[in-house]
Amino acid sequence: MNTANTLKDGTVIQSVDSALLAMNTSSRLEGIGEYYFSEKLREIDELNKAGKKVINLGIGSPDLPPHPEVIRVLHEEALKPNTHAYQNYKGSPVLRNAIAAWYQKWYAVNLDPASEILPLMGSKEGIMHICMTYLNPGDKILIPNPGYPTYRSAAKIAGAELIEYKLTKTNNWFPDFEEIGRGGLDGVKLMFVNYPHMPTGQLPTEEMFTALVTFAKAHGILLVHDNPYSFILNDQPLSLLKIPGAKDVTIELNSLSKSHNMAGWRIGMLVGAAERINEVLRFKTNMDSGMFLPVQLAAAKALQMEKQFHDEVNSIYKIRRRKVFELLTLLKCDFDQQQAGMFVWAMIPKIYKDGFALSDKVLRESNVFITPGGIFGSAGNEYVRVSLCSTEDNIHQAITRIKQNITN
Ligand SMILES: Cc1ncc(COP(=O)(O)O)c(C=O)c1O
Repeated sequence: MNTANTLKDGTVIQSVDSALLAMNTSSRLEGIGEYYFSEKLREIDELNKAGKKVINLGIGSPDLPPHPEVIRVLHEEALKPNTHAYQNYKGSPVLRNAIAAWYQKWYAVNLDPASEILPLMGSKEGIMHICMTYLNPGDKILIPNPGYPTYRSAAKIAGAELIEYKLTKTNNWFPDFEEIGRGGLDGVKLMFVNYPHMPTGQLPTEEMFTALVTFAKAHGILLVHDNPYSFILNDQPLSLLKIPGAKDVTIELNSLSKSHNMAGWRIGMLVGAAERINEVLRFKTNMDSGMFLPVQLAAAKALQMEKQFHDEVNSIYKIRRRKVFELLTLLKCDFDQQQAGMFVWAMIPKIYKDGFALSDKVLRESNVFITPGGIFGSAGNEYVRVSLCSTEDNIHQAITRIKQNITN
């Protein structure tokens, strides 16, 4: 309802009563909740406001800085007057060349920088672009369980029918192709794979990758390999594209978030056959207008880092991992010591109903947050995941708090 106010000088001001418009969200958002961590971080914020000083061992956001040379390039390039315009949709040639050289050096994979590389604002946006590029409502997609939750939500938003393939410890967290085949593969268009696997930390083998490519070729499925963890606690980075013939059926996502401590910078990439890159580009060019040039040039610098950079980062993660093993032993969890990536994945003792119960208890009693494995799918229900992105001192404090609650 409109009301009128008259000012002293006689001016009449019409005002409108405040009533927020009721809106229905689109049906494509049905069943899509807020991202778990976004919700959980709000809860942790509330606890911190109440003075709890929660130690967050949940999220995988590197706390270590990028190499100083990377920051220097960002700074110098940002000071220039001519680096602030919209950028090429396909990314700066400097970054594409650096990505090609990086893939050659570390993964022994040959890529044409002009046609087989698409810089992205993180692997996460690539997941969405790929789903929107290829999936029609009702198309089927194979998703790992447990696996990164974004595969599931992006495919759902695109309207696809999700087929979860279960990964088990007894099968080394590798896909069981026979079991997948028994479920029927008619109409399956895409398959998400991710090794080193998050959350289990399982490394790939060339044999398993070869089997994947054979499977994809036999069934006409496009493999989407998400590879952001290959430099963390792993000396032998492996790309699925290294497998002979893989480019026919594979596109690969990669990222500087974890490997170069640049999660907030939002730099990733999609690599694969030129046809696939052009297809995804059709969607992406309608979503954004390129990445800030100084960020791209600094990313190119990061990709030139020598092994020493990665060794130094990994030596810190190794020390933290030993502390996390100590914490998990205290909680009577069972874990494999050979995991790659920036987390430790651990099976909970039988006394807890599931990982949520253990996570809630540790948060409530000790103000320490660890991630319940169930957020990665039902096959993660009996697990928890602890992040290595927290200082040794923080992990030590978490152990001290948990110890006090165990003895009290
Ligand atoms: C398996 C996996 N893929 C992709 C991402 C997102 O990476 P980015 O920061 O490159 O978007 C994450 C981040 O946690 C991840 O765990």
